[in-house]
Parts: sequence; C-alpha cells; structure tokens
Amino acid sequence: ATPESVLSEATEIRCLDLKGFVGFSNLPQQLVKKIKRGGCTFNIMCVGETGIGKSTLMESLFNKSFDMEPCSHELNTVELRERQFEVEERDIVLKLSLVETAGFGDQLDKENSVRIISDFLDRQYEMYLQEELRVRRDMRIYQDTRIHVCIYFISPTGHGLKALDVYALKMLGKKVNIVPIIAKADTISKDELKRFKAKILDELRLNGISVYTFPEDDATAGEENATFNAVVPFAVVGSVDFVQKGDELVRARQYPWGIVEVENEEHCDFLKLRAALIRVNIAHLIDRTHSVLYEQYRSRRLRDLGVRDGDIGPGMMQAYQLRRSELLEQVKAKESHLRESFVEKVRLKEQELKVKENEIKGKVEALRQEHATVMRKLDDQLKRLEKERADFEAAKQHFLAQKKKK
Ligand code: GTP
Ligand code: MG
Repeated sequence: ATPESVLSEATEIRCLDLKGFVGFSNLPQQLVKKIKRGGCTFNIMCVGETGIGKSTLMESLFNKSFDMEPCSHELNTVELRERQFEVEERDIVLKLSLVETAGFGDQLDKENSVRIISDFLDRQYEMYLQEELRVRRDMRIYQDTRIHVCIYFISPTGHGLKALDVYALKMLGKKVNIVPIIAKADTISKDELKRFKAKILDELRLNGISVYTFPEDDATAGEENATFNAVVPFAVVGSVDFVQKGDELVRARQYPWGIVEVENEEHCDFLKLRAALIRVNIAHLIDRTHSVLYEQYRSRRLRDLGVRDGDIGPGMMQAYQLRRSELLEQVKAKESHLRESFVEKVRLKEQELKVKENEIKGKVEALRQEHATVMRKLDDQLKRLEKERADFEAAKQHFLAQKKKK
C-alpha cells in the first residue's frame, strides 16, 4: 500500500458505537465500503403462515414502518410479495429487499406451495448466472437479488413442527440460509417454550433438516455466535406499538396484566436475532449465499449445460463458449436434416397426387367413350325409326291412291 492509500484508509476510520441501532454501522470496513458504493443489498425472505407476524417483525427489526398490506386467507396460490427499502444508520444507507410469502399455509397442496418459493430462489440464482455468463458484464453494478437469509416462522402451538414446516424446511434448507424462529412467543409460557424449542430441534435433526448455523470458528464473533446457536429457534415478539416506560418509549405489546417488550432480553430473543442476523453475520450470510449455495446451483446448471467438472474455474467461460458452439452446430445439423426430409415428403406427396390425377383422367375418358357409344346406338335407332316411318308414309300414300282409282 502506498503512503497515500494508508492515509486515506486512516481518515476513513469510523468510530464504532456499540449501541448503534440496527447494528450495520458496526460492520467491517470492507463491507461498509461496499454498502456505501451502493453495491450491497441485503435480501431477506420471510416464510410463514398468513398473519403469523412477518410484516410486524420486519418493522421491528429495522425500526421502520413498511405498510405491508395484510393478505387474505382466500388466495388460490402462494404469492411472493417483494419490497425494496433503504435503512439509514448514521451515514450508511443499507439497501434492503424484503420478500414475504402470501397465502402460505392456506393451500391444501403443500408441495406446490413450497415449489413456488423454491422456484423463486432458483430464479434469482439463474439471473445471477446469466449475468456471469454474459460476455460483457459488470458484476459490480449488478443488482443482486439472491436471497441471503430466509426467516422461517414457526407457529407457537407448543406441539412441534407441522407437516408443512417439515416439508418446506427440508426443501428450502438446501437452497437458502434458513433461520427458524418461533413467532408470537408472547403467547407461550416460559417452561412451555423450553420444551417447544427442544422438540423443534429434535424434529429438525430427525428429519435431516439443515438450518443455518452461525459460524463459531470466527476469531472475533465465535463466542457470540455460540450464544446465538444456543437459542435457535429464536423466540421472538414483534410489535408496531410503542409504550411509555419511565421516560422512554419502548416497542412493546400491551396486555391488561402488563407489557411485553420487544427489545428486552428477558422477554424474548428479538435482540439476539437482530444482532445475529445484521450486526454479526450479515457478511457471512451474503458470503455463504454466494460461495456455497449459489456455487452448488451453478455447478448443477453448468453440468446440465454440458460444462464438465474440470472446466469449472478460470477456463469456465471458454468451456461454456465451446459447448455452446457445439450445441449450435448440432441444432444447425438437425435443422437442415428436417428441411431435407420435409422437401422429400412434399415430393412424394406430389407424385401420389399425380397418379391419382391420371387415374381420374382415365375414368373420365372411359365414361366419355361409353357415352359416345350409347349416343351412336340411339342415333342408329332413330334413323331406323325414321326410315320405318317414311316407308309407312309411302305405303299409306300408295294405299290411298289405289283407293281413289277404285
Ligand atoms: P400477512 O402478511 O397477512 O400474511 O401477515 P403477517 O405474517 O405479515 O402478519 P402481521 O405482521 O400483519 O401480523 C398479524 C397480526 O399478528 C397483527 O394483528 C399483529 O399485531 C399480530 N402480531 C404480530 N406479531 C406478534 C407477536 O409477536 N405477538 C402477538 N401476540 N401478536 C403479533
Ligand atoms: Mg404481511
């Protein structure tokens, strides 16, 4: 590094405030630079039944009012509703994209519901792949839409996972970083919650479901991540209301017997969830999405396209181009073969029609001749009759003359 660059790095040193609100202004310098350049979006997906508290939790997480419309239970299919937001913390603006499921859990066909979500995830990977494969590309200005984290909302039933949850987590766990949470945790008692969490973890294990684990091998955040992993699935409470507590307003839910504070470690795991997702692991979530989950997608797709294992790497583009021109050749060959066989078919058909035409001509000729013969016969008959009539007339005249003489 040149002395100038060291100097400019030094002037950029930020004072870290450990009480920063959402927490992203405390991110590593590298990522903050990227965010400032506008090249970083954080894409969150919320999957959970209608009315389970998805929008409320997002508002609570980013301390912003999103006015996400509640959805009706009458949707015929699962829809994904997307919204882009920017949140600002001190001088840093983070672009956020929130995707919420609508109608999830209201459909009888759970496979189809999950497929819609899984296809959405794949589509984002595919768009990124197509951009990468373009000859002229600029990944720095590409708006990445790949989902970095999927928050999966489990109903606070106290009974464990539902069949839909198991199926969805199984399918989506392979494609996206999943962070499971127990929604509306204020509706479940402390002891019950403990048993519920244990049961959910058991079921996840039994079903071979992999959810995102916060990296404990990280030098600076390892310890903190271990505490996060210990509370998974996070039991959270969300609220859009504020309640006066002493001389400050706190985000809380008010009940006749008291209040449940969202940002109180004693009341729920909300603060842990926010720290885990944003302050501590946002970079890891983005990185894992690219280097593990997207990479799996890319290898699979390229294999489908015929790029072989050894090709993946620096030579991938050439391999891809080569394979592409091979495929184009094949398509061309197929096309000319099709054209030739079409021409041949047309020729055969023409021949067949010609034969038919001749047959018909022959038939017409025969009929014409037959007709002529009949006409000739009739002519002869007519002539004979004429002659007979003339003979008869002559005989009659002769007879009359004879009679007169007498
Ligand atoms: P849709 O978008 O319509 O599927 O709903 P949603 O999942 O976005 O739920 P939303 O945030 O609109 O909340 C639905 C209802 O649940 C609202 O009345 C919220 O006040 C309530 N709610 C949200 N979070 C909590 C919570 O943590 N505890 C309790 N008890 N209620 C909550
Ligand atoms: Mg909503």
